[in-house]
Amino acid sequence: MKRDVIIACDFPGEQETLAFLDRFTGKKPFVKIGMELFYGAGPDIVRRIKSRGHKIFLDLKLHDIPNTVKKAMKVLSDLDVDICNLHAAGGIDMMKAAVEGLTRSDGSRPLLIAVTQLTSIDQKRMEEELLIRQPLEDVVLRYADNARQAGLDGVVCSPLEAGRVHAACGNGFLTVTPGIRFASGDTGDQQRVTTPARARELGSDLIVVGRPITAAEDPAAAYNRCVEEFAI
Ligand code: C5P
Repeated sequence: MKRDVIIACDFPGEQETLAFLDRFTGKKPFVKIGMELFYGAGPDIVRRIKSRGHKIFLDLKLHDIPNTVKKAMKVLSDLDVDICNLHAAGGIDMMKAAVEGLTRSDGSRPLLIAVTQLTSIDQKRMEEELLIRQPLEDVVLRYADNARQAGLDGVVCSPLEAGRVHAACGNGFLTVTPGIRFASGDTGDQQRVTTPARARELGSDLIVVGRPITAAEDPAAAYNRCVEEFAI
């Protein structure tokens, strides 16, 4: 997939989201619909935004037993999104079941990617709270390789890990990377952050940008800045 910027539309409802998207008069941005908007506005919001010509990454991060995830993915495949995702921590069988559930009767399906470790987790938290003692990058790489083995198309990871994921899983294996901030911006709750330009140098395929665009005074200008730094 061509390098692109995905806007995380983390809003509580349809009205704010559509009003926000109305501010983009040029290229229709690739939109990420996360839990807040999906749970708040319901599945119709996906159809609404899709019908306006946006590509959609449905970021619901499924994580459950294989049978439950398979059935949920079957429902999501009818929404005709471009990318959806789950947590690699659910294991290889769960990821395989997800691919099965997502695949339509004609063999087509949205791209499916796995969250490795959230970009809000750093080494210290992972060790102290999750009792995972390995280096964070090794954990990310193992989860990425599990996702590849299960037949997924890529992972969500930090841009800092994109190069090693490509080296281990191949250049065609997508790295979708949140944790993006402009050089002078607030990091908020994100721990492993880089700028759009640095994410490009590090080999990210798609960057996911939320608050640096949604909370900007001029979101369209902030989006254009991301596109210029990352995708052109
Ligand atoms: O506002 P900000 O740019 O931090 O938003 C990042 C977005 O990417 C959020 O919607 C968050 O849920 C998502 N995300 C993340 N880290 C992951 C997976 C998804 O920050 N590992």
